[in-house]
Amino acid sequence: MKCDICGGDAVTFIRYNGTHLCGRHFMRYVDRRVKKEIRKQIHVHAGDRIAVAVSGGKDSMLALSMVSSVFGPRNGIEVHAITIDEGIEGYRPPSVDIVRRYCGSNGIAFHLRSFSELGVTMDGIAPLSGESSPCTYCGVFRRRLMNDEARKIGAKYLATGHNLDDMAQSVMMNFVRGDVERLARLGPHEKVQPGLIPRFLPLRTIPEKETLLYALVSGLEFWDGECPYWKEALRNQYRDIVDDLEERSPGSKFSILSSYDALRPMLYRELPPSNLRLCACGEPTVGNRCKSCELLEEARRKISGASRSQQRIRVDPFRASVPGLFAYRAQFADDQLLSDVGDGKDFHLVSCDHYLVLSGQRLLSYRPRCACSYEIAIVE
Ligand code: FES
Ligand code: ZN
Ligand code: ZN
Repeated sequence: MKCDICGGDAVTFIRYNGTHLCGRHFMRYVDRRVKKEIRKQIHVHAGDRIAVAVSGGKDSMLALSMVSSVFGPRNGIEVHAITIDEGIEGYRPPSVDIVRRYCGSNGIAFHLRSFSELGVTMDGIAPLSGESSPCTYCGVFRRRLMNDEARKIGAKYLATGHNLDDMAQSVMMNFVRGDVERLARLGPHEKVQPGLIPRFLPLRTIPEKETLLYALVSGLEFWDGECPYWKEALRNQYRDIVDDLEERSPGSKFSILSSYDALRPMLYRELPPSNLRLCACGEPTVGNRCKSCELLEEARRKISGASRSQQRIRVDPFRASVPGLFAYRAQFADDQLLSDVGDGKDFHLVSCDHYLVLSGQRLLSYRPRCACSYEIAIVE
């Protein structure tokens, strides 16, 4: 396959507009659209600072490299990268290294904040999140630290790596759930509110396939690990729906976003952003207390409740009929019998919806599926 522009070897076929492009022309094609978006979304002058939220994944690394190539020291604009460590063992640490390295070799100031400053970790919260998805906590705490750091930096804007797929999924998700308020608030932010650093989304018109290809073609280092709690995200359902639409009629993702953009001024007029005030923690809020303070209290309560019941629990291993495996009899102090035998795999308890995860001879974890929030992290 040949590039339609230069006749060189094509690296991709862009289905929605029917063109073949080589690596160089593909990158140029993406660069142009990203630059146009940046110009449309923000206005900066020499001396301004821009922060970029960077997880180390392909999208945020690409957003960082684009923003720093468009601005950067040449224009007297400082670019800062902010990474949040959510406390997910094996997932976050390698990506932090990638961001730090990239910033080091490109003269970008690197800032690291961590959930542990709030006294929580996602590994601690996820098993206790019950009905709500772990992402609810993760997203709210991440936005809090991100906004706080951007504020400290004195950033005029905060860029995020959301791509076209993310945008189309969010539009569909809020539409289907009837959350028109939230639909009206999808970034980029137009109104400057006290304490809230306005977001901009340089990649909002670039499909995820293209952000990946760009990262690969340009040799950008990125982390492609998957968050272990990802499967529980509500968004996944919408990812499938939007991908399916795109498959049937190429260009659907663009249409969803451009229909949204056409409706946005009307939504904005009908539902103007409420005037925000500051919560005691310094974050902007509509009411008296911000969402992150509410969720934080809930998370801390669950975690301390879990460790209390952890102390009260008695676990008796005994040999089950499967050779080489132990089964466990776990009993709370209140004598609620939780389990009888295990088969070496996940199994459900008779008394309620709790289940135990057995691996080899070790009871790895006990994950609540109902409103109770006991947790065991044991041991034979
Ligand atoms: Fe939702 Fe990681 S917590 S994807
Ligand atoms: Zn070409
Ligand atoms: Zn607060």
